[in-house]
Amino acid sequence: MPDVERVSTTRRKFLIGTGVMTTGVIAGLAGGFHNYHWEEPSAYQAWTQIEKGGLTDLEYIVQCGTLAANAHNTQPWSFSIQGLRIVLFADLNRNIGRADPRRRLMLMSIGCAAENMVVAAGQLGYAVRIDDAGSATFPVDGGRCVVLELSRSSDSGRHPWFPALFRRRTTRAPFAPLPMPYRDFAAQLGNLSDLPGIQLRWHETNLERAAIIKAVNVSVRGFVEDEGAYHDGMAWFRRSRSEWEQRRDGISIFGGDASLLVKEWVDLFASEDDLLSPAFRQGEVDVAQRLAETTPLWIMVRADMDTPGAWFRAGRMIERIYLAATAEGYAVQPITYPTESSAGLAELTRAFGLESRSVPLMLLRVGRAAIPSPSPRRELASVLL
Ligand SMILES: Cc1cc2nc3c(=O)[nH]c(=O)nc-3n(C[C@H](O)[C@H](O)[C@H](O)COP(=O)(O)O)c2cc1C
Repeated sequence: MPDVERVSTTRRKFLIGTGVMTTGVIAGLAGGFHNYHWEEPSAYQAWTQIEKGGLTDLEYIVQCGTLAANAHNTQPWSFSIQGLRIVLFADLNRNIGRADPRRRLMLMSIGCAAENMVVAAGQLGYAVRIDDAGSATFPVDGGRCVVLELSRSSDSGRHPWFPALFRRRTTRAPFAPLPMPYRDFAAQLGNLSDLPGIQLRWHETNLERAAIIKAVNVSVRGFVEDEGAYHDGMAWFRRSRSEWEQRRDGISIFGGDASLLVKEWVDLFASEDDLLSPAFRQGEVDVAQRLAETTPLWIMVRADMDTPGAWFRAGRMIERIYLAATAEGYAVQPITYPTESSAGLAELTRAFGLESRSVPLMLLRVGRAAIPSPSPRRELASVLL
């Protein structure tokens, strides 16, 4: 085989093995999360700050908010502290473009941050009232979305999910089944009456799982063929570890469970063209399929209406699922493809007989897996207005 051909065959193999899922997923080959070393420890500092240290109460609550799950690790937020009130702004520039044309994922991400802040506030002895009216107008109102009004409820508090804020991760790996019935886990999520219009459905039978695998399959194929969405998603992909840690945002292969060899190869050799290549896209399809197939339990977050307020509340729900799962030692991964694509939605609607007043907003995989390393976060000073 000529040298050039040999090189490109090897390249193709690596790219397929990499399996970067561009709605925020980087999964990969079996292996463990054994091999991370940090070049920029400051990018992970907030994950270790389990006490407020030199920060004020409200600064600390904001910092805990920044540890939330968020689409593509765009961290699309900024915060204004005004007395006992925290205003959450969507940072409109930190978007995924054609992969999130209605800014639905952006608003869910803001919901995730708000939920973390409620937990941190509870830990510090504050009750929180949330006004989410701004979620309907934020794109034309400078990003102003949501207001958290804090009030002292006790001198010292405790929130059962507080330790989970720091251990929560998105886990992109095959999952083993839960050791107990999911109903026990569902009970951890408690009463959802403060999230009106949001419902959860739990899917674990073979028939249900097969339907979701099919929805993932058709939607991921559609996504990698959609040039606009694919390009805008890949804009948040960080090829080298140093780029990821210096920018302190975006998605990369380094927190996933790909083999050390694949990580090293991407770090050293992957080019921008590689990311857009058919092989890379095929890797994404393969990984999505493989992860969907190794999912013992799915949670579907649904809403009565497809409105910005529902997207924000769905985000809060997503973060609750993460935190409850983390507290129980379970792994979670949202999979955005099916609910963001018309082909995926059609498949879900058909399989689950959904009515028009039941909008699937997110699917999450739940199971057991090793805990991955954390993803970087921007520093607090850069998100405070
Ligand atoms: C609205 C939303 C959509 C997401 N979609 C996906 C997805 O499709 N695939 C995935 O692997 N992760 C997804 N994530 C997880 C993010 O990529 C992840 O939270 C982010 O990269 C930060 O990493 P961390 O959760 O480990 O802190 C999503 C998160 C949110 C809030």
